[in-house]
Amino acid sequence: MTDAIDEYFEVALELVKTAGNLIIEFRNGCKEFESKSSDIDLVTEIDKKVEETLIKGLSAIYPEHKFIGEESVADGAKCELTEEPTWIIDPVDGTLNFIHGYPSSCISLGLVINKESVAGIIYNPIVNQLFTAKKGKGAFLNDRQIHVSQVKEVRNALISFEAGTSRDEERQRTVLENFKMLVTKAQGVRAVGSAALNMAMVALGGSDAYFEFGIHAWDVAAGDIIVREAGGVCIDPAGGPFDILSRRVLCASSEELAQELAKMLHQYYPERD
Ligand code: IPD
Repeated sequence: MTDAIDEYFEVALELVKTAGNLIIEFRNGCKEFESKSSDIDLVTEIDKKVEETLIKGLSAIYPEHKFIGEESVADGAKCELTEEPTWIIDPVDGTLNFIHGYPSSCISLGLVINKESVAGIIYNPIVNQLFTAKKGKGAFLNDRQIHVSQVKEVRNALISFEAGTSRDEERQRTVLENFKMLVTKAQGVRAVGSAALNMAMVALGGSDAYFEFGIHAWDVAAGDIIVREAGGVCIDPAGGPFDILSRRVLCASSEELAQELAKMLHQYYPERD
């Protein structure tokens, strides 16, 4: 299976790099967009074209593989995860950044087999940052191997989180309560506007933890394996095992930091994917 994963990965990487050119063309912003589940959940033609490029390219070579793509699901496709090799795609993670020309958006592509992330690619073509990982082979930024930080306590941690793309009042209240709590308890807080890039920053050791309620499988499939291969952990924000369809994520540089943060967080349970 390792050899097969290597082969799938190389094919996917070439497609991701090609699709990245579509994003580069709009590096200064993409002013045409539509809204989806809320007025801040947005989609552009580029999101759709990137997803189509990846699905067409991969399914031409691997017709038996399955797909869960953000824009296909928005258009009515089923979000169904089986034991089969499944490519989980966020064509532009950080669409709001992409629209504004804020250079923190990326393609996030995860390969899940037997319901476990085994390979991941997070590519921000605008600043040429390519984060990759394959099961058992470490995590990389471009050609350099990366590792999570040594931070083990919330009081020493730089913690990322996001306000998200839903206007649900209970969820927004939870975001504000957690923000208020972390401003007093953590060393600092950050939000880059892309779930995948927040996870990549934890893998890089640039931040120490990231959590969010309301993300989808496509936001975190690649980040999960990249964080774990960089030596970090990915759990449910209440402290239990990570569930890719639960729409909840907490990743951190260590189990100690993850569990301390989990105990402090106000929880929110969105409807599952
Ligand atoms: C969103 C971004 C954002 C996060 C949302 C995601 P999209 O993805 O990752 O940072 O807060 O939860 O849905 O819509 O830009 O692909």
